[in-house]
Amino acid sequence: MIDLAIIPVAGRGTELLPLTKSQPKEMLPVGGKPVVQHVVEELIQCRLNRFLFVTGPDKAAIEDHFDVNNELIRYLRLNGKEDLLAELAFEREDAEYFYTRQRHQSGLGHAVLCAEPFVHGHRFVVALGDTILGRYTSSGIVKRMIDLFERNSSEIKGVIAFDEVPRPEVVHYGIAKPKESRGDFFELDDIVEKPTAEETPSTLAVAARYIFTPDIFDYLRRTEPGNDGRIQLTDAISLMIRDRKKILGVRLPPGEYRYDIGSFESYYKAFLDFALHDPIHGSTLKSFLDQNFGR
Ligand code: G1P
Repeated sequence: MIDLAIIPVAGRGTELLPLTKSQPKEMLPVGGKPVVQHVVEELIQCRLNRFLFVTGPDKAAIEDHFDVNNELIRYLRLNGKEDLLAELAFEREDAEYFYTRQRHQSGLGHAVLCAEPFVHGHRFVVALGDTILGRYTSSGIVKRMIDLFERNSSEIKGVIAFDEVPRPEVVHYGIAKPKESRGDFFELDDIVEKPTAEETPSTLAVAARYIFTPDIFDYLRRTEPGNDGRIQLTDAISLMIRDRKKILGVRLPPGEYRYDIGSFESYYKAFLDFALHDPIHGSTLKSFLDQNFGR
């Protein structure tokens, strides 16, 4: 059974300065919740219940957010604001939260390697803490990936979610070189981190969700850092494939949204989209936009 998700949240979020100067980008509000709460709720719905955050400098707000805040609960009760307690229900979810710190900014691959002492030979999910999947309801892609893994567990070493992106955008992502598709999944022939639009093997971009067996750690240890000193998770996966380990890819279903909170443009779009679909405030916001920006 896969019940553990590693959530890397150590990146500095420099594309979003000054917003992220002292606040983790994973704590930025998207609609009424911080980014990382959307991520955790998606994973809980896919039946994961142990979460290991790989944190870095200035990320303490994430720990506070998932902790039970008894003082706040008491305050709300004493002041007749019981209705607001429902907003804190996520604190009491049947889930456990753990934290470890990536002490050097040495890339996503290194962040995943920091989780090794916690994994104890089991398979696990990696979910990037700055990417929301789904809109009206959380994505079920991780559940599909777990099912696929469990159906083929003796042969495969990893399953990765992919999303089709416009060709000019491949430069921002890990990109699949797929073998032939088999129904709703495909086997990877290779994977390349941030190729040029001219040389890209496809337009299938890694969509921030992965499942691995602990074999990945050996390959991460063997992965040479790039020119920027960072160890890429994608490069370790590529080494695994070259070593004839089987890695599968699944596509996000058509119409499923992916919000990568990595730049102002994508952050603003995500915030607007969630705010406009807010069940309480969405319609007022829509009228405001209609009145002021007319269509
Ligand atoms: C990371 C991964 C990349 C992946 C992307 C989005 O890149 O290295 O392979 O496609 O997340 O999920 P980053 O956004 O950290 O540059």
